[in-house]
Amino acid sequence: MTTQTSIAGIKLKSYVFNASGPRDVTLAELKKIGESAASAIMMKSCTIKPRLGNEEPRYAALPYGSIQSMGLPNLGYQEYIKMIPVLKKYDKPVFASVAGLSPADFPIMVKAFQQSAVDAIEVNLSCPNIKGKPQVAYDFIASANVLKKISRLGKKPLGLKLPAYCDLAQQQMMAKLIKKFGIKFVTCINSLGNCLVIDGHGEKPVIKPKQGLGGLGGQYIKPVALANVRMFYELLPKNINLIGVGGISSGQDAFEFLLAGAAAVQVGTAFQERGPACFNKIDDQLVKILTNKKYPSINSAKGKLKFL
Ligand SMILES: Cc1cc2nc3c(=O)[nH]c(=O)nc-3n(C[C@H](O)[C@H](O)[C@H](O)COP(=O)(O)O)c2cc1C
Repeated sequence: MTTQTSIAGIKLKSYVFNASGPRDVTLAELKKIGESAASAIMMKSCTIKPRLGNEEPRYAALPYGSIQSMGLPNLGYQEYIKMIPVLKKYDKPVFASVAGLSPADFPIMVKAFQQSAVDAIEVNLSCPNIKGKPQVAYDFIASANVLKKISRLGKKPLGLKLPAYCDLAQQQMMAKLIKKFGIKFVTCINSLGNCLVIDGHGEKPVIKPKQGLGGLGGQYIKPVALANVRMFYELLPKNINLIGVGGISSGQDAFEFLLAGAAAVQVGTAFQERGPACFNKIDDQLVKILTNKKYPSINSAKGKLKFL
Protein backbone atom coordinates (compact mmCIF):
# COMPACT_ATOMS: atom_id res chain seq x y z
CA MET A 1 0.00 0.00 0.00
CA THR A 2 1.39 3.42 -0.94
CA THR A 3 -0.06 6.89 -0.67
CA GLN A 4 1.15 7.88 -4.13
CA THR A 5 -0.97 10.59 -5.63
CA SER A 6 -0.84 13.33 -8.21
CA ILE A 7 -1.59 17.03 -8.47
CA ALA A 8 -2.35 18.45 -11.92
CA GLY A 9 -0.65 15.41 -13.48
CA ILE A 10 2.49 15.81 -11.33
CA LYS A 11 3.29 12.54 -9.53
CA LEU A 12 3.87 12.67 -5.76
CA LYS A 13 5.39 9.70 -3.93
CA SER A 14 3.20 10.30 -0.87
CA TYR A 15 0.14 12.24 0.25
CA VAL A 16 1.98 14.75 2.49
CA PHE A 17 4.25 17.75 1.90
CA ASN A 18 4.96 21.13 3.44
CA ALA A 19 2.72 24.21 3.32
CA SER A 20 4.22 27.47 2.11
CA GLY A 21 5.68 29.54 4.95
CA PRO A 22 7.05 27.49 7.82
CA ARG A 23 10.76 26.53 7.53
CA ASP A 24 10.96 27.11 3.78
CA VAL A 25 12.44 30.59 3.40
CA THR A 26 16.15 29.84 2.90
CA LEU A 27 17.99 27.36 0.69
CA ALA A 28 19.23 25.53 3.81
CA GLU A 29 15.64 25.09 5.03
CA LEU A 30 14.40 24.00 1.60
CA LYS A 31 17.19 21.40 1.37
CA LYS A 32 15.96 19.89 4.65
CA ILE A 33 12.52 19.51 3.09
CA GLY A 34 14.25 17.87 0.11
CA GLU A 35 15.94 15.38 2.46
CA SER A 36 12.72 14.66 4.37
CA ALA A 37 9.81 12.37 3.45
CA ALA A 38 7.77 15.34 2.17
CA SER A 39 6.58 14.34 -1.30
CA ALA A 40 7.26 17.79 -2.78
CA ILE A 41 9.16 20.93 -1.89
CA MET A 42 6.91 23.97 -1.50
CA MET A 43 8.80 27.24 -1.38
CA LYS A 44 7.98 30.28 0.72
CA SER A 45 5.60 32.78 -0.89
CA CYS A 46 7.81 35.28 -2.63
CA THR A 47 7.40 38.90 -3.58
CA ILE A 48 9.20 40.95 -6.25
CA LYS A 49 11.69 42.40 -3.77
CA PRO A 50 13.12 40.72 -0.66
CA ARG A 51 11.20 41.48 2.55
CA LEU A 52 12.15 41.35 6.20
CA GLY A 53 8.51 40.93 7.20
CA ASN A 54 6.68 42.34 10.23
CA GLU A 55 8.06 43.22 13.63
CA GLU A 56 8.68 40.56 16.32
CA PRO A 57 7.14 38.79 18.12
CA ARG A 58 5.18 37.70 15.06
CA TYR A 59 4.63 33.98 15.66
CA ALA A 60 3.25 32.26 18.75
CA ALA A 61 2.67 28.57 19.31
CA LEU A 62 -0.69 27.91 21.00
CA PRO A 63 -2.11 24.85 22.75
CA TYR A 64 -3.87 23.70 19.56
CA GLY A 65 -2.01 25.53 16.78
CA SER A 66 -0.41 28.89 16.09
CA ILE A 67 -1.07 32.54 15.40
CA GLN A 68 1.27 34.54 13.21
CA SER A 69 1.65 37.76 11.33
CA MET A 70 4.93 37.11 9.54
CA GLY A 71 4.31 39.68 6.78
CA LEU A 72 5.91 37.58 4.01
CA PRO A 73 9.59 37.65 5.00
CA ASN A 74 11.30 36.21 1.90
CA LEU A 75 14.37 36.54 -0.30
CA GLY A 76 12.63 37.91 -3.40
CA TYR A 77 11.50 35.79 -6.36
CA GLN A 78 14.80 35.90 -8.23
CA GLU A 79 16.60 34.09 -5.39
CA TYR A 80 13.99 31.30 -5.41
CA ILE A 81 14.39 30.90 -9.16
CA LYS A 82 18.13 30.41 -8.65
CA MET A 83 17.48 27.67 -6.07
CA ILE A 84 15.32 25.50 -8.35
CA PRO A 85 18.17 23.53 -10.06
CA VAL A 86 19.61 22.68 -6.64
CA LEU A 87 16.23 21.60 -5.26
CA LYS A 88 15.39 19.48 -8.32
CA LYS A 89 18.24 17.13 -7.31
CA TYR A 90 16.04 15.71 -4.55
CA ASP A 91 13.97 13.89 -7.17
CA LYS A 92 10.64 15.32 -6.09
CA PRO A 93 8.45 18.10 -7.52
CA VAL A 94 9.27 21.69 -6.60
CA PHE A 95 6.39 24.14 -6.17
CA ALA A 96 6.80 27.91 -6.28
CA SER A 97 4.49 30.21 -4.32
CA VAL A 98 3.99 33.78 -5.49
CA ALA A 99 2.37 36.61 -3.54
CA GLY A 100 2.04 39.92 -5.35
CA LEU A 101 1.74 43.11 -3.34
CA SER A 102 -0.07 44.63 -6.33
CA PRO A 103 -1.86 43.09 -9.33
CA ALA A 104 1.08 43.94 -11.61
CA ASP A 105 3.50 41.86 -9.50
CA PHE A 106 1.76 38.54 -10.21
CA PRO A 107 2.44 38.27 -13.98
CA ILE A 108 6.10 39.26 -13.53
CA MET A 109 6.70 36.43 -11.05
CA VAL A 110 4.47 33.85 -12.75
CA LYS A 111 6.20 34.47 -16.11
CA ALA A 112 9.63 34.05 -14.53
CA PHE A 113 8.66 30.76 -12.84
CA GLN A 114 6.97 29.55 -16.04
CA GLN A 115 10.38 29.90 -17.72
CA SER A 116 12.18 28.03 -14.90
CA ALA A 117 12.40 24.30 -14.12
CA VAL A 118 9.81 24.55 -11.33
CA ASP A 119 7.02 21.95 -11.55
CA ALA A 120 4.00 24.06 -10.60
CA ILE A 121 3.10 27.50 -9.30
CA GLU A 122 0.81 28.15 -6.32
CA VAL A 123 -0.55 31.69 -6.52
CA ASN A 124 -1.16 33.02 -3.04
CA LEU A 125 -4.31 35.15 -3.18
CA SER A 126 -4.85 34.92 0.55
CA CYS A 127 -2.06 36.39 2.68
CA PRO A 128 -3.81 38.01 5.67
CA ASN A 129 -0.76 39.69 7.19
CA ILE A 130 0.29 42.58 4.94
CA LYS A 131 -0.66 45.85 6.59
CA GLY A 132 -3.14 47.82 4.51
CA LYS A 133 -3.59 45.03 1.91
CA PRO A 134 -6.78 42.99 1.94
CA GLN A 135 -6.71 39.32 0.97
CA VAL A 136 -7.14 39.37 -2.83
CA ALA A 137 -9.41 36.31 -2.93
CA TYR A 138 -12.11 38.03 -0.86
CA ASP A 139 -12.52 40.48 -3.78
CA PHE A 140 -13.75 38.58 -6.85
CA ILE A 141 -13.17 41.46 -9.27
CA ALA A 142 -9.58 41.86 -8.08
CA SER A 143 -9.11 38.08 -8.29
CA ALA A 144 -10.42 37.97 -11.87
CA ASN A 145 -8.08 40.82 -12.76
CA VAL A 146 -5.06 38.88 -11.44
CA LEU A 147 -6.15 35.60 -13.04
CA LYS A 148 -6.60 37.26 -16.42
CA LYS A 149 -3.01 38.52 -16.25
CA ILE A 150 -1.43 35.17 -15.30
CA SER A 151 -3.45 32.44 -16.95
CA ARG A 152 -1.68 32.35 -20.34
CA LEU A 153 1.95 32.82 -19.47
CA GLY A 154 3.12 29.24 -19.90
CA LYS A 155 2.28 25.54 -19.66
CA LYS A 156 3.16 24.78 -16.03
CA PRO A 157 0.09 24.16 -13.87
CA LEU A 158 -1.18 27.12 -11.89
CA GLY A 159 -2.88 26.64 -8.54
CA LEU A 160 -4.56 29.06 -6.16
CA LYS A 161 -3.97 29.27 -2.42
CA LEU A 162 -7.31 30.41 -1.08
CA PRO A 163 -8.47 31.91 2.19
CA ALA A 164 -11.19 30.42 4.35
CA TYR A 165 -14.62 31.08 2.91
CA CYS A 166 -17.48 30.73 5.33
CA ASP A 167 -20.31 31.17 2.86
CA LEU A 168 -21.18 28.94 -0.07
CA ALA A 169 -21.88 31.97 -2.30
CA GLN A 170 -18.19 32.92 -2.06
CA GLN A 171 -17.04 29.42 -2.97
CA GLN A 172 -19.42 29.44 -5.95
CA MET A 173 -18.01 32.76 -7.20
CA MET A 174 -14.42 31.55 -6.83
CA ALA A 175 -15.22 28.18 -8.48
CA LYS A 176 -16.47 30.07 -11.55
CA LEU A 177 -13.19 31.98 -11.81
CA ILE A 178 -11.13 28.81 -11.30
CA LYS A 179 -12.92 27.13 -14.20
CA LYS A 180 -12.88 30.21 -16.44
CA PHE A 181 -9.13 30.80 -16.10
CA GLY A 182 -7.93 27.19 -16.37
CA ILE A 183 -6.60 26.83 -12.82
CA LYS A 184 -5.34 23.26 -12.31
CA PHE A 185 -5.24 22.92 -8.51
CA VAL A 186 -6.62 24.68 -5.47
CA THR A 187 -5.05 24.78 -2.01
CA CYS A 188 -7.47 25.31 0.90
CA ILE A 189 -6.89 27.11 3.24
CA ASN A 190 -4.44 29.81 4.20
CA SER A 191 -4.26 30.84 7.86
CA LEU A 192 -7.63 32.06 9.14
CA GLY A 193 -6.95 35.78 8.94
CA ASN A 194 -7.15 38.52 11.53
CA CYS A 195 -7.74 36.45 14.65
CA LEU A 196 -6.83 37.71 18.12
CA VAL A 197 -5.25 35.67 20.90
CA ILE A 198 -4.93 37.46 24.24
CA ASP A 199 -2.56 36.68 27.07
CA GLY A 200 -4.93 37.47 29.94
CA HIS A 201 -2.10 37.46 32.47
CA GLY A 202 -0.15 40.18 30.64
CA GLU A 203 -3.38 41.76 29.31
CA LYS A 204 -1.79 41.89 25.82
CA PRO A 205 -2.03 40.12 22.49
CA VAL A 206 0.54 37.33 21.99
CA ILE A 207 1.98 38.85 18.78
CA LYS A 208 2.91 42.44 18.01
CA PRO A 209 1.99 43.36 14.39
CA LYS A 210 -1.45 44.77 13.55
CA GLN A 211 -2.29 45.23 17.25
CA GLY A 212 -2.15 41.49 17.72
CA LEU A 213 -4.28 40.40 14.75
CA GLY A 214 -2.82 37.42 12.94
CA GLY A 215 -3.52 34.29 10.95
CA LEU A 216 -4.63 31.27 12.94
CA GLY A 217 -3.32 27.80 12.07
CA GLY A 218 -3.46 24.29 13.50
CA GLN A 219 -6.30 22.29 14.98
CA TYR A 220 -8.46 25.39 15.55
CA ILE A 221 -9.03 25.76 11.80
CA LYS A 222 -9.38 22.14 10.68
CA PRO A 223 -13.20 22.19 10.38
CA VAL A 224 -13.03 25.36 8.27
CA ALA A 225 -10.36 23.84 6.02
CA LEU A 226 -12.26 20.56 5.64
CA ALA A 227 -15.44 22.40 4.68
CA ASN A 228 -13.61 24.44 2.04
CA VAL A 229 -12.02 21.34 0.52
CA ARG A 230 -15.38 19.59 0.51
CA MET A 231 -17.31 22.46 -1.07
CA PHE A 232 -14.71 22.96 -3.84
CA TYR A 233 -14.66 19.19 -4.40
CA GLU A 234 -18.38 19.42 -5.12
CA LEU A 235 -18.23 22.63 -7.13
CA LEU A 236 -15.24 21.86 -9.41
CA PRO A 237 -14.68 19.23 -12.09
CA LYS A 238 -12.70 16.26 -10.78
CA ASN A 239 -9.62 17.04 -12.91
CA ILE A 240 -9.01 20.18 -10.82
CA ASN A 241 -7.16 18.79 -7.80
CA LEU A 242 -7.56 20.01 -4.24
CA ILE A 243 -4.78 20.26 -1.70
CA GLY A 244 -5.95 20.31 1.91
CA VAL A 245 -4.13 22.39 4.52
CA GLY A 246 -5.24 23.48 7.97
CA GLY A 247 -4.75 21.55 11.17
CA ILE A 248 -3.07 18.44 9.79
CA SER A 249 -0.78 16.84 12.34
CA SER A 250 -1.69 13.13 12.19
CA GLY A 251 -2.68 10.42 9.73
CA GLN A 252 -6.23 10.69 11.02
CA ASP A 253 -6.32 14.40 10.04
CA ALA A 254 -4.94 13.54 6.60
CA PHE A 255 -7.55 10.77 6.21
CA GLU A 256 -10.36 13.23 6.96
CA PHE A 257 -9.08 15.55 4.20
CA LEU A 258 -8.91 12.56 1.86
CA LEU A 259 -12.57 11.73 2.56
CA ALA A 260 -13.45 15.38 1.93
CA GLY A 261 -11.79 15.15 -1.49
CA ALA A 262 -8.18 16.33 -1.17
CA ALA A 263 -5.67 14.80 -3.61
CA ALA A 264 -2.81 15.70 -1.24
CA VAL A 265 -2.26 17.60 2.01
CA GLN A 266 0.23 20.19 3.23
CA VAL A 267 1.47 20.69 6.77
CA GLY A 268 2.16 24.14 8.22
CA THR A 269 2.07 24.58 12.01
CA ALA A 270 2.90 20.93 12.78
CA PHE A 271 6.00 21.20 10.55
CA GLN A 272 6.98 24.46 12.24
CA GLU A 273 6.66 22.86 15.68
CA ARG A 274 7.87 19.30 15.06
CA GLY A 275 10.32 19.63 12.16
CA PRO A 276 10.77 17.40 9.11
CA ALA A 277 10.06 14.09 10.90
CA CYS A 278 6.34 15.00 10.84
CA PHE A 279 5.93 14.14 7.14
CA ASN A 280 6.90 10.48 7.48
CA LYS A 281 4.90 10.09 10.67
CA ILE A 282 1.68 11.50 9.19
CA ASP A 283 2.04 9.45 6.01
CA ASP A 284 2.79 6.23 7.96
CA GLN A 285 -0.27 6.74 10.11
CA LEU A 286 -2.35 7.34 6.99
CA VAL A 287 -1.06 4.09 5.43
CA LYS A 288 -2.17 2.19 8.56
CA ILE A 289 -5.65 3.73 8.48
CA LEU A 290 -6.10 2.97 4.77
CA THR A 291 -4.84 -0.59 5.25
CA ASN A 292 -7.19 -1.21 8.20
CA LYS A 293 -10.10 0.18 6.24
CA LYS A 294 -9.11 -1.86 3.16
CA TYR A 295 -8.71 1.11 0.86
CA PRO A 296 -6.04 0.01 -1.65
CA SER A 297 -5.03 3.51 -2.79
CA ILE A 298 -5.51 7.24 -2.29
CA ASN A 299 -7.90 7.40 -5.23
CA SER A 300 -10.13 4.66 -3.83
CA ALA A 301 -10.86 6.76 -0.72
CA LYS A 302 -10.79 10.25 -2.22
CA GLY A 303 -14.02 12.18 -1.67
CA LYS A 304 -15.75 9.11 -0.15
CA LEU A 305 -17.34 11.03 2.70
CA LYS A 306 -20.57 9.33 3.72
CA PHE A 307 -23.67 11.23 4.81
CA LEU A 308 -25.87 10.74 7.85
C1 LIG B 1 4.94 30.80 10.15
C2 LIG B 1 3.94 30.69 9.04
C3 LIG B 1 4.19 31.33 7.82
C4 LIG B 1 3.29 31.22 6.77
N1 LIG B 1 3.60 31.80 5.57
C5 LIG B 1 2.81 31.56 4.48
C6 LIG B 1 3.20 31.98 3.19
O1 LIG B 1 4.25 32.59 2.98
N2 LIG B 1 2.39 31.66 2.14
C7 LIG B 1 1.22 30.96 2.29
O2 LIG B 1 0.53 30.69 1.30
N3 LIG B 1 0.83 30.54 3.52
C8 LIG B 1 1.60 30.81 4.60
N4 LIG B 1 1.24 30.32 5.83
C9 LIG B 1 -0.02 29.56 5.95
C10 LIG B 1 0.23 28.05 5.84
O3 LIG B 1 0.76 27.72 4.57
C11 LIG B 1 -1.08 27.28 6.07
O4 LIG B 1 -1.99 27.58 5.04
C12 LIG B 1 -1.74 27.58 7.40
O5 LIG B 1 -0.78 27.73 8.43
C13 LIG B 1 -2.72 26.48 7.80
O6 LIG B 1 -2.05 25.24 7.93
P1 LIG B 1 -1.66 24.60 9.37
O7 LIG B 1 -2.91 24.52 10.16
O8 LIG B 1 -1.04 23.30 9.04
O9 LIG B 1 -0.69 25.58 9.98
C14 LIG B 1 2.10 30.46 6.93
C15 LIG B 1 1.84 29.83 8.15
C16 LIG B 1 2.74 29.94 9.20
C17 LIG B 1 2.43 29.22 10.50
